[in-house]
Amino acid sequence: MRKQIAAANWKMNLSLPQAEELIIALLETDHSLNDHQLAIFAVPFPYIIPVKQMLDGRQNIFVAAQNCSANKNGAYTGETSAEMLQSIGLKYVLIGHSERREYNHETNAELAKKVNIAMEHQLQPIFCCGEPLQIREAGTQNSYVETQLKESLFHLPAEQISGFVVAYEPIWAIGTGKTASSGQAQEMHAHIRTVLATQYGNEIADGITILYGGSVKAANALEIFGQPDVDGGLVGGASLVATEFAAIINSLKK
Ligand code: 13P
Repeated sequence: MRKQIAAANWKMNLSLPQAEELIIALLETDHSLNDHQLAIFAVPFPYIIPVKQMLDGRQNIFVAAQNCSANKNGAYTGETSAEMLQSIGLKYVLIGHSERREYNHETNAELAKKVNIAMEHQLQPIFCCGEPLQIREAGTQNSYVETQLKESLFHLPAEQISGFVVAYEPIWAIGTGKTASSGQAQEMHAHIRTVLATQYGNEIADGITILYGGSVKAANALEIFGQPDVDGGLVGGASLVATEFAAIINSLKK
């Protein structure tokens, strides 16, 4: 069975004491992960090391960065390299979140470079894709997402895309309280898997984890994660509440 993942994206929230409190509360709240289930915390850069220290040794729980530079090293003030993330023992990094595409003007071509540099440093990208509202309203979301995947991922050879993690996050459902219906999520996830299968074959496509993101909460996680092509979630707001995120972890497919 492919990996099922509950990923928290804290975005730019919490002080360090609040972050520590959240992790402690979460560890104390009833949650369980079996062999093919992971919980991943994408935390702000200054909290990566302290949160990682709190979670080290926990089975199937990992910390991720929310971004990395497309460049290797050098005069890029304010940036963080994949090499730095590797050097502190990280295994995961979010690439191409819609907020970075919007506010930092990250293009599909630049994201392809980030994917490459992350993989060169043994970091598994959690590659985010998803359409804005006007594209959904025009009904062209399938080709929009397909282009994002093609332009940022399809240069990868089969062995590198094997076991990959993609997160589908429709922008109109992020932070809006407006979740895609489980049917809409399944439809796009099946489309993404078909696009991957056309490029890489069924076996590889079947092994790729596709997360849904956009107003996931304890109350809707079970239904969304229950869809055949939904392998968990990338969760913003609800990941800042220990009881909510613990329930989301417990909603992963068994
Ligand atoms: P919300 O869960 O707050 O809608 O955010 C989703 C998201 O952007 C996760 O990366």
